Amino acid sequence: EHFARKTGCLAGKKVLITAGPTQEKIDPVRYFTNHSSGKMGYAIAEAAKAEGAEVVLVSGPTSLQVPNGVHVEKVISAQDMYEKAIEHFQKADIVIKAAAVADYRPSEVYTQKRKKQPGDWSIKMERTIDILKTMGENKGKQLLVGFAAESESVEEYAKKKLQSKNLDLIVANNITAEGAGFKGDTNIIMTITKDGEQKEYPILSKREAANCILQDIVSYMKRHGK
Ligand code: CTP
Ligand code: CA
Repeated sequence: EHFARKTGCLAGKKVLITAGPTQEKIDPVRYFTNHSSGKMGYAIAEAAKAEGAEVVLVSGPTSLQVPNGVHVEKVISAQDMYEKAIEHFQKADIVIKAAAVADYRPSEVYTQKRKKQPGDWSIKMERTIDILKTMGENKGKQLLVGFAAESESVEEYAKKKLQSKNLDLIVANNITAEGAGFKGDTNIIMTITKDGEQKEYPILSKREAANCILQDIVSYMKRHGK
């Protein structure tokens, strides 16, 4: 056969994924960040690629290897991630925001290393832009999928985020549960869709969890004729 046949349930779809933490600069030697490893987002990128999608991965700093055939854009800060993600947003059919974006960054960045001084040091912080919310406000054909990282009242908070960010689907996880969260190779997720479908999964490898998330996205698209 001399023609490439596209197979997989995401064949022909453009999928934009964000993954990993962001780093918010304090001075040339210091930054604020979080415990995200990027594993969940990278697993979704790999799974989407395996299902035939064209995948763009906007990734904060991680030590992970980029899955074969995935186009990666490496970024550092929440602002960088916003700019790169928005660049790819219009063309995307599906956007999956697995990144753990910093909510705050230092209001001022020191250009020189801040020398230690007697007494305490407090740093004034300002809000970063909410990338997902901005996308929700400017949504066209895109199917928008967010994550909710919670330590309590997981379902309740996730439903609020689904609404307030104008999402089609949200993946909720209790980041403090055994076998779930930022660092490990497993996760315990639940998915909630805008049209009221709700699924709870047992502990799964992040790669298996990625498949479940994609299956739920595909079912949602089918229900909505996409
Ligand atoms: N998110 C984003 N931009 C931000 C913060 C969060 O795009 N500046 C996205 C995350 O990628 C995730 C979703 O919003 O898909 C939810 O992130 P989460 O931290 O759980 O919720 P927040 O809305 O930031 O609220 P809070 O941290 O107060 O729970
Ligand atoms: Ca947050």
